This record gives sequence, structure tokens and C-alpha cells, in this order.
Amino acid sequence: MKRRLDQILSSYGYCSRKEAKAWCRDGRVACAGESVRDPAAKLEPRELLIDGEPIDHPDGILVVLHKPVGYVCSHDPAEGERIYDLLPIDWQARDPQPVSVGRLDRDTSGLILVTDQSMLVHRLTSPKHKVPKTYEVLVDKPLSAELIPAFAAGTLMLDGEKEACRPAELRITGERTAELVLMEGKYHQVRRMFAALGYHVQTLHRSRFAELSLEGLEEGEFRDLGAADLAALGL
Ligand code: URA
Repeated sequence: MKRRLDQILSSYGYCSRKEAKAWCRDGRVACAGESVRDPAAKLEPRELLIDGEPIDHPDGILVVLHKPVGYVCSHDPAEGERIYDLLPIDWQARDPQPVSVGRLDRDTSGLILVTDQSMLVHRLTSPKHKVPKTYEVLVDKPLSAELIPAFAAGTLMLDGEKEACRPAELRITGERTAELVLMEGKYHQVRRMFAALGYHVQTLHRSRFAELSLEGLEEGEFRDLGAADLAALGL
């Protein structure tokens, strides 16, 4: 979509709208082989070269990131290392800024989506959309098969919540390891569900978000979602 050049430069984090005039005057912006001198010119971001380079992600950001333990999903640098520090630094100057789709705790690793498209965040976190999320859990003591119906019942109440957790699927994969599939995302839900049943979660990793996995991504790495990924998310 065509937009004013000064608005484009500020929303992609190059400079303020005020500074756009100087950027044009200095010949830093080109379109179809010509310098653009008018900051009010209406242009298509995808067709621009800024300092000779195309705009990064002109149609918006949507990436899957392999979050390591120790990083927070908050933007506040006072909270420590942020997942945004693992992404290109220039993205932090964009408006809107990229945000995570839901959150993972500092002590949880795994799959997190990051986007600058608020509609996607809304869609993918809305309880109506019912996206299954798969977690790999290591607990402090042997898992009992009786946990399977307890998670599946849809009656588990967590402290401070008004509604019971929705039915969740537990697959026991080892003496103290399991996969849990949730269709919702209450605060610290996996840890609190296990705690309500007498278990302490020692490590927690999100391995899938709908059909998306972390295949090919080392900790701290990210990749753009392609058409097949969007289809897997029902988008
Ligand atoms: N449940 C948790 O307890 N923590 C997370 O990070 C995600 C789900």
C-alpha cells in the first residue's frame, strides 16, 4: 500500500518524520532509479531503496524464534536479556514494534512467534482460535498414569482463576517426562497445573505451536514463516 515517505521512514525505524526532509535532501531515498526529494510523496515501501538497500521486511515481520532459557518476553531491559535482543537490532526502532504471540517464562525454552502485526497476535492468542501448544516437561518425581484423566477432565482449578482449565492432553514419555498439549494460555499454566497435582516442573520446553515446530533452529535462532507455515497456523 502506498504511504507518505516520511511516514514510511519513521515506521520502519530509519529516522523521525521531521528528519525525513534531510534524508530526502541528502539523496538517501530512491524509487525506480530516481532520488526522491519530497518527503510527502506517496510511495510503495517495497519499491524503495534507502541508502541503496531495500527496506527489511516491507510487508511486516512474522518469525518463529527458538527461545533459550534465561530470556524474557518483556520489552523492559530492566528485566534482563530479552528475546528481542536475539532479533535484528533495527527491528526495535520500528513502529509498531515486534511483540511476542503470548509469552514464555524466563525459565522456559522453545517456540515463540514474534510479529509486528497486532491482528495476528489477537487471532493466535484468542481463546476462540484454539491453537494447540505442545510442551515437553521434566518433573521432580515419577509420573502416575492417573494424571492423564486428571488433565483431560477439564475440571482442574488454579489459584486465583475463576474458570477451570480446559481439557489438556498428557502423554507420558518417560518416568519423569511428558508432553502436554494445551488449547489455552493462562499465566504459568503448565507449571501451575502440575503443581496443583503435586508435581514440580523442573524443565519446560515448548516444542510446537499448532503444526509449527523448531526443526532446523538452534537455540537463539529464528526464521521467517513461509506460506506453508501460515497454512499450518490456519492463516
Ligand atoms: N506454562 C508455563 O508454566 N510457562 C510457560 O512459559 C508456558 C506455559
